[in-house]
Order: sequence, then structure tokens, then C-alpha cells
Amino acid sequence: MFKKDYLLSPSILSADFTQLGDQMKQAEDAGADWFHIDVMDGHFVPNLSMGPALVNACQRATDLPLDVHLMIEEPERYLDKFAAAGASTLTVHIETCPDMDKTQEMIRDLGCKAGITLNPGTSAETIQPFLKNVDLVLVMSVNPGFSGQSFLPEVLPKINRIRKMLDDINPDVLIEVDGGINPETIRQTYDQGARIFVAASAIFKHPQGIRAGIESLTEKL
Ligand code: DX5
Ligand code: ZN
Repeated sequence: MFKKDYLLSPSILSADFTQLGDQMKQAEDAGADWFHIDVMDGHFVPNLSMGPALVNACQRATDLPLDVHLMIEEPERYLDKFAAAGASTLTVHIETCPDMDKTQEMIRDLGCKAGITLNPGTSAETIQPFLKNVDLVLVMSVNPGFSGQSFLPEVLPKINRIRKMLDDINPDVLIEVDGGINPETIRQTYDQGARIFVAASAIFKHPQGIRAGIESLTEKL
């Protein structure tokens, strides 16, 4: 039987929070592999979103891994709280971590997988020194802060570049892509080497519902 070679991580940022548990169940039944939780502090990004209590509510709503994206200054102050709340992966921005090796070690010491991410304007070379120690690389394909933005095609060569770096340094690590993923852009990022796909609006705002949103993406892979 064909085994799929990708993971889908719906971002709950575009879910209806009055029905969050039900919407997560629908996504799980339709083939979600992980759930992506966007944490924003109003400083590193201009928006405010969720904290550890919401992560913990998600943990009680699903058995799937929780993929927590920390768009916050000084993430080290909160890693233990997100780990205790049930995060499986904690992904931090290179732009917020002056001692990235240390931050990644703190994440692993808490029993979580450690991810590194970079903004669209940050070069692949900036993260290269840390790739030997990461569990996941998240490439942002919009400027972080909001769901529903348009995919920035200039990140496509960067995905390819990071894939080649990882093939040399840490070949088992997968590249995740986040921002503006829709039925057209998902394939473009897959072709450059992305294998974990985050999508908020394409899933939770799909006019025919969550299952249709998920199928509209996965049928392109
Ligand atoms: C953006 C967040 C994304 C966002 C994606 O700052 O990191 O995870 O929820 O939303 P869409 O898929 O609508 O671009
Ligand atoms: Zn995100």
C-alpha cells in the first residue's frame, strides 16, 4: 500500500474557538497528523494569540502531537510552561534566540522535539550552524503574525537550499512550511523539499468545511 511521505499540521489559528474541540476532531478524522498552535506575544509579531492554557486544552482534545510555534521574544522564559501544557514540538525563531544551541538543548531537556524557524527575510545561512542539533526546520512563507496572508514565492529557493544543507548535515530532519499554504502552493513547496505542511485558512475557512479543506490540499501531494 502507498505510504504517504508528508505530514499535515492544521493551524488552529483560523478555527472557530467556540467549537475548538469539535473542529479538531473533524480535522483529525479527515487526516490531520499534528496540530499547529501559533503563540504570539504582540512584540515579536504585532498580534496576540494563545498561551499554555490553550495548548493544554488542545492536549485534552486530541492524542495527536502538538506542534507549537513560538512567535515570542525571550521564548526561554516560557519553554517549561509549554512543555508542561503538552507541547510535542517547540519551535523557536532564530530572530529571537541569541544562544540558539542553548535554547534547543533546553527544549530537548524538557522532553520535547526542538524546532528552529526563520522569517522570510532571514537567510538560510543564518540557521546553518544549528542544523546539526535540530529535530525540525520550519520555513516561514509569510511574515508571521496573521493567518490568511499570501504565500511569498521567494521562499521556494530557500526551502531547496535548506533541504540541501540538511542532506549534508542532518538528513533525517524534515522541513515544515507555514503561511499561505493552499492547493497551489502546497505542491510548489513539496517540490522544493518541504514535507510538513501547516495551513490555517485553507482548512478551517474552506467554504465546504474542514474535511474538504484537508482533501483539497492532500490531493495535490
Ligand atoms: C502565521 C502563523 C501561521 C498561520 C498560517 O504567523 O505562523 O501558522 O496560522 O495561516 P494560513 O495558513 O492561513 O496562512
Ligand atoms: Zn505558525
